Amino acid sequence: MAEGKPEILFPKEIIEGRVRELAGQISRDYAGRELLIVGVLNGAFIFMADLIRSLDIPCRVDFVRLASYGSGSASSGEVRITKDLETPIAGKDVLIVEDIVDTGLTLSRLVEMLRERRPKTLRVCAFLDKSERRLVPFTADYVGFPIPDHFVVGYGLDYNEKFRFLPDVCVIRDIL
Ligand code: IMP
Repeated sequence: MAEGKPEILFPKEIIEGRVRELAGQISRDYAGRELLIVGVLNGAFIFMADLIRSLDIPCRVDFVRLASYGSGSASSGEVRITKDLETPIAGKDVLIVEDIVDTGLTLSRLVEMLRERRPKTLRVCAFLDKSERRLVPFTADYVGFPIPDHFVVGYGLDYNEKFRFLPDVCVIRDIL
């Protein structure tokens, strides 16, 4: 499908400020503890890189990659891990970092799968939250920006692997 020119929704200066605020909140909440940050590839890598550089607590990082059946901008209910964590998480304070919560299917399933490994705590930090699109109930513990039902790209988010590199979060109007 053709897509129009991306229009800026959040410019990089606004993103930088909000990421610093989130990092401040996370640093206060986990003060005195050591956090394991789990990034969900590929979309979260830019957000995660900025977030951890603004934390003032020690953290370790690991990554998961997930596949959901379905394609394009739609996701279905089936989620499986295609690249698993390399770190055991039992007894640890774990924070999942994701680019966006849309239907909620991916994160609710990932949380369920990681909970089975008995972390001490498990929370979710999502850069963006499109709450009106939820198909299953899901609330992230930390959210960068709530957004309306638009398809967004940039700052790690893609459309068919395009636009991830954009420094601003942009809306593509013509694909929905
Ligand atoms: P969910 O399972 O429907 O919550 O979708 C989560 C995944 O869908 C995200 O991690 C993104 O990869 C993708 N996604 C959902 N909405 C957007 C969007 O607006 N832009 C880019 N990717 C999106």
